[in-house]
Amino acid sequence: MSQFAKKMTEILNHGALNLAMAIGYIHQIFDILDELNKPATVSEIASASKLHPRYLKEWLGIMVTGQIIALLKDQKGEETYFLPPEHASFLTRKGGSMNMGVYTQEIPLLTACAMESVNHAFQTGAGIPFSRYPDFQEFMAELSDAKHQTVLIDQFLPTVDKGKLRDRLTQGIRVCDLGCGHGIALHLMAKAFPKSSFVGIDNHREAITQAAAMAKEAGIGNAVYQLQDAADIDGKSEFFSRFDYICAFDAIHDQSHPLKVLKGIRHMLAPGGIFSMIEIKARSNQADNMAHPMGPFLYTVSLMHCLPVGLNENGTGLGMMWGQEKAEALLREAGFEQIETTEMEHDPFNLHYLCRATLRTEKVN
Ligand SMILES: C[S@@+](CC[C@H](N)C(=O)[O-])C[C@H]1O[C@@H](n2cnc3c(N)ncnc32)[C@H](O)[C@@H]1O
Repeated sequence: MSQFAKKMTEILNHGALNLAMAIGYIHQIFDILDELNKPATVSEIASASKLHPRYLKEWLGIMVTGQIIALLKDQKGEETYFLPPEHASFLTRKGGSMNMGVYTQEIPLLTACAMESVNHAFQTGAGIPFSRYPDFQEFMAELSDAKHQTVLIDQFLPTVDKGKLRDRLTQGIRVCDLGCGHGIALHLMAKAFPKSSFVGIDNHREAITQAAAMAKEAGIGNAVYQLQDAADIDGKSEFFSRFDYICAFDAIHDQSHPLKVLKGIRHMLAPGGIFSMIEIKARSNQADNMAHPMGPFLYTVSLMHCLPVGLNENGTGLGMMWGQEKAEALLREAGFEQIETTEMEHDPFNLHYLCRATLRTEKVN
């Protein structure tokens, strides 16, 4: 078999595995196998998971030939299945920021939402509205939970502005999470820093409603949510100088009008305020991304979601892989005079752009 034929075989197998693993992840089969913590028969797995044994058996066929799960035999010669602990730590919900299982859902979800629309848009160049992705917010919340739960408070925030931000948060400052989605990050921060006040901004009504309900249920009194188009903030007096710290996790590249949004963020920063933009670590030229370990995956997520959403409403369409050079240029154009771009030890796939606007020449209407 030629090298390329081998590669094609791998592609077909790995694409199929991704889909099957997503089904397994959704039904929590990896978590159940991990909890069983011993080789188990199909009927044992079926009774622990309440899933149908015939479907399970087929699914397990994929997992054993794909070498995700080990196929063994018990003393009676019956086939048993075992999820090795070193695999479980990447596939189960308890994996925290190591949990890569959660990402197996992304391509199948985007395919289900937008395959037809993307195929059509390929010919017309049209954008696709966010509303075409009905389950996306829920999925983002799951990702956010896996991403932020174990690292946001203890690893990310202490690095911002050489630890000074954490001290200010402890003393009490005004914070905004822009594009907050279900408010996972905001809730963690609000609980950790009770003297600070937090505002989550998003233009997605269900996400904001859900975030506010979750805050209420958790008894969080220092976080509120605002339904607001971030592209419609710049120049408005009610937003002027309102926050000491603004963060935007994964929320700038898929904006239709990112420059307006960044100008709005600058407008909302109080004197001495800082802005953290967290975006995928990539370069702006494709040629510079050849060695990116997740290049095809991230460009595909972008093709199926970030790019079409960003092209909506005559949008800019940056795409998720817009890269460091374009990001820094856009931040400068928005008026941030100081930009420090750093890699993050706990998160090798993103970059942290720490921005300051020192010259205050705002006009408000
Ligand atoms: C990729 S999600 C990231 C969510 C969250 N920050 C996280 O890390 O999980 C991008 C978020 O930006 C929001 N968003 C997109 N365009 C927006 C706009 N013009 N104004 C406000 N929010 C917007 C979306 O509704 C979505 O919640």
